[in-house]
Amino acid sequence: ARSINLAVIPGDGIGPEVIAEAVKVLEKVVASEGITLERTEYKLGAQHWLETGETLPDETLEKLRGHDAILFGAVGAAPGDTRIPSGIIEREMLLKLRFSLDHYVNLRPSRLYGTVGSPLANPGNIDFIVVREGTEGPYVGNGGTLRGGTPHEVATEVSLNTAHGVERVVRDAFRRANARPRKHVTLVHKHNVLVYAGHLWKRTVEAVAQEFPEVTHDYLHIDAAMIFLVTDPARFDVIVTDNLFGDIITDLAAAVTGGIGLAASGNINMDRTAPSMFEPVHGSAPDIAGQQKADPTAAILSAALLLDHLGYADAARRIEAAVVSDVESRTGEPRGTAAIGDAILAAL
Ligand code: NAD
Ligand code: IPM
Ligand code: MN
Repeated sequence: ARSINLAVIPGDGIGPEVIAEAVKVLEKVVASEGITLERTEYKLGAQHWLETGETLPDETLEKLRGHDAILFGAVGAAPGDTRIPSGIIEREMLLKLRFSLDHYVNLRPSRLYGTVGSPLANPGNIDFIVVREGTEGPYVGNGGTLRGGTPHEVATEVSLNTAHGVERVVRDAFRRANARPRKHVTLVHKHNVLVYAGHLWKRTVEAVAQEFPEVTHDYLHIDAAMIFLVTDPARFDVIVTDNLFGDIITDLAAAVTGGIGLAASGNINMDRTAPSMFEPVHGSAPDIAGQQKADPTAAILSAALLLDHLGYADAARRIEAAVVSDVESRTGEPRGTAAIGDAILAAL
């Protein structure tokens, strides 16, 4: 049956504003493709925590497991909001979802549509994907403090890298590269300093590469990779990297391809043992929330990634084409969130 049982988590700040536009676009495209869409909205996030004290209750997590996919806006408090401890929502809700649902491929495509929007003078033809590991690294919360608050305080935040975890995401990156014209994987890490994790990643890339004779690969230290991301971003095809490096790389990648308002992502469970979750790369943007200033394009493109993941490639391509035509016709005149959503809807 062509049907989608979708969970929607709008979240905080600009989350609900951009998700409203993504849902509009999604509803139109599925209707015209003969796909039925059933939506269930879940109230979660910093605001919800303030009202209820809940981050992500187990019953809610179990309900989310019953959906085909999750469309997620953004969560997080404003930096100055002292009522909400930093990290509580990020850790206990967003990362809990990524970990519990085993979203080991955090897929973040970067494409420059036309030349409008890149701050680079000669950006070139930027078209790469970042395959960011999503369930390990320094994100696992494997840390703690000793003698907290004293001059002898010791804080640790141990990065977890397992052979299983690294291998599955590296293999995914090679598979994706194999399906792309340039067939090239770049491992980004820092094995000159992070020798244990770095060498595990490097050995794994070399081993998995044997399975993909047509795919070439190279390696860059994270610091040098950041040079090339600004001086020659068109050189990249598929970047594979750990959870924290991937987080940082993809904000810069967004900036060089027209801004964070365009950057989409998928938190994907490639084994399909749980629903995958699609969300813009950006956060709740408290500085512009509630003002209709947020660009909903990242959320709309995330809906396209969602359709792709569920096997509705035609519907996904239609959304992407509508976005490309909208982005290419931008003049720099500011438009509101709903106006951009309406323009993309009209271009469908
Ligand atoms: P942010 O991405 O929310 O904002 C960074 C800058 O980008 C801000 O100036 C913002 O106005 C701008 N921006 C973001 N999205 C935009 C859009 N769609 N259109 C136009 N401009 C946009 O990052 P931050 O300020 O570091 O974080 C704010 C909160 O969001 C924090 O609580 C953080 O933890 C959380 N966060 C959540 C997610 C997520 O839910 N996946 C991702 C990143 C940050
Ligand atoms: C992102 C965000 C999250 C991350 C935070 C909010 C936990 O920055 O999705 O890029 O670091 O993964
Ligand atoms: Mn981030």
